[in-house]
This record gives sequence, structure tokens and C-alpha cells, in this order.
Amino acid sequence: KPKFKTVQEVVAAGVGLPDRYLQASTGDEESQPLNGPVPEMDIPAIDLSLLLSASEDGREELTKLHSALSTWGVVQVMNHGITEAFLDKIYKLTKEFFALPTEQKQKCARDIGSMQGYGNDMILWEDQVLDWIDRLYITTYPEDQRKLKFWPELPIGFRETLDEYTMKQRVVVEKFFKAMARSLGLEENSFLDMYGESATMDTRFNLYPPCPRPDKVIGVKPHADGSAFTLLLPDKDVEGLQFLKDGKWYKAPIVNDTILINVGDQMEIMSNGIYKSPVHRVVTNKEKERVSVATFCVPGEEKEIQPVEGLVSEARPRLYKTVKKYVELYFQYYQQGRRPMEAAL
Ligand code: SIN
Ligand code: FE2
Repeated sequence: KPKFKTVQEVVAAGVGLPDRYLQASTGDEESQPLNGPVPEMDIPAIDLSLLLSASEDGREELTKLHSALSTWGVVQVMNHGITEAFLDKIYKLTKEFFALPTEQKQKCARDIGSMQGYGNDMILWEDQVLDWIDRLYITTYPEDQRKLKFWPELPIGFRETLDEYTMKQRVVVEKFFKAMARSLGLEENSFLDMYGESATMDTRFNLYPPCPRPDKVIGVKPHADGSAFTLLLPDKDVEGLQFLKDGKWYKAPIVNDTILINVGDQMEIMSNGIYKSPVHRVVTNKEKERVSVATFCVPGEEKEIQPVEGLVSEARPRLYKTVKKYVELYFQYYQQGRRPMEAAL
């Protein structure tokens, strides 16, 4: 088994806060401390059940979707077809997994150099400042790509629930792709055709233990997602997720019974830059533990992603080139400290 220290192990060791977690000073801590107050984002709750209807309400909902995705790149989705009781079960199993003894969690430990499995922040370069996060990363779809050794046997019910959640999410993903296409005046399957049948879904369970220095340590450093889009269940009680807009940070609201969906780089490319892949981060909390569950919807490896024809015109020239295996490019760029989207410019 590979040897790494998770944040939980660092905390349990009681040796204080290792330097590797301390963010370098930026000089503007006074005006913008990491744990300072931030305004709340003003994003709409979108009714997924209305988005594909031809009614007046449906058209109104599409307009709201267009407005939110072309500015923030984020929406809260309600009436998504997954019951609150089921979402609660996922939160509960997530907390139960991270509360298991270390040896039990290590049974699904990540292999060196791979994303999948249980571990800490991925170490991608030598002097990387580490994020205050532990995670369990699992490819859930398509089924033949599943690696069961990373699917925890405990807590009881975890595997079955994740399988069920994946199937429920597939329905949401398909509807959301169609709605995005319609909201841009495109044929319903425009994005789905490019995204492909070989599309994958990866779910990442995140744990942010209480942190002694929220002013100096970050839960997830600023990044935009390399997915087409991401379905997120943020913690139901503890804030922490923030989005960047026009150079300022805003906190994501907590709205019960909704799924937060954010655009990823590949959707920004397919929409020729109309829908924005937002930069976001997670800040830490001194007293409270936080969890979240993120599912990345990623086009099939062999799929070529490019701006859809209907969104390229003389007035709006093509902004991005055609990319393949974008997630690989994403990490190559990320590792070199470059902005991953540059890979598509
Ligand atoms: C992430 O975007 O990487 C994590 C989001 C969250 O924990 O809320
Ligand atoms: Fe993210």
C-alpha cells in the first residue's frame, strides 16, 4: 500500500500544522483574508422538470438558465427527480465512510500516480502547498470501467447507494445537456452528440476536517473543472464553497434539496465560450467538519470536443480549437502551473 498522510491522520498525530499546508503570503491578507466575509452569489434555482417543456414557464426557465450559465456558470437545480431522503443517505454514507478507522479506508487507497481511490490532495509537483482535504475518488460510469477495489465495502450500503445514485444522475445529466442546447437555440442533442455514448462519470467524496488556521490554509485551491459539467452536493450545514466573478469571491448559498451544477471547461469549449467554466475554491472552517460529493461528467476519451457549429458565426468567431482527451491536457497544464484552458486556445 502506498504511504501518504491524509488530513485526518495529520490531525490525529497531534503534531501541529505542518508547513506544507500553509499558503504563501500574497500581501493582501489584510484586505482579503482567506477566512474573511464574502457576499452570497445571486444564482437562480432552476426547475429541471420545466426545462424541457414547451410551455411558457418552460421558456422562462430556459432564459433563467441561459442568464445564469453565461454569467456565473453555476445554477441550483430543483425538481431533479432525486428525493431528499436519498440525498440524505448519500451525505450520511459519506460521513460514515470518513469516520471509519484508517486501516479500513486504506483498503481502497489510491495507487501512486492514479486519481482513483482514497487519499489526500494529489501531489503533482515538488513544493506544492497541500489542500486541507481527504477524498475518495471513484469512476462510476460506464459500468465496465468500474474498479471495485476502490468501492468501499463499508459502510454497509455504500456500493449499492453509489450505483443507484449514478443511475439517477444519468437522467439528470441527459436532461441538463438537452436543456443547455435548447437554451442556446440549438437542436436538443447538439451537445449530447459530441459528448458521446462513451462518456464517463467520476464521483469524488470530499472531507474537510476542522482546520486550526482557516486564514492560512485552503480546502481546495482556486481552479475551474475539466469536466463538461459537475453535479455537486455541497454540505447541507457548513459553507465553504466560493466562486470567483469579476475578480471577487462570492459564497455559494446552501439550498436544501437542490443539486448545484457548474459548467466545466469542456462545456465552455462546446458552447464557444458562451457558458462559463467558473473558477472556484473551498475555504476551511475552524470548528466544523465539511463534506461534499462532486460528480464530474466527462466526454468519452476518444471524443473530439469543439465549439458546436450553430454557435460559431462571423459575429462570434470560433474561440477554441478541437481537443481530445482534454482531462489529460488539463492535468499537464495544471501541473506546470498554467491555466488548463490554454490547452484549447
Ligand atoms: C471542488 O470544487 O473541488 C469541491 C467543491 C466542494 O467541496 O464544495
Ligand atoms: Fe471543482
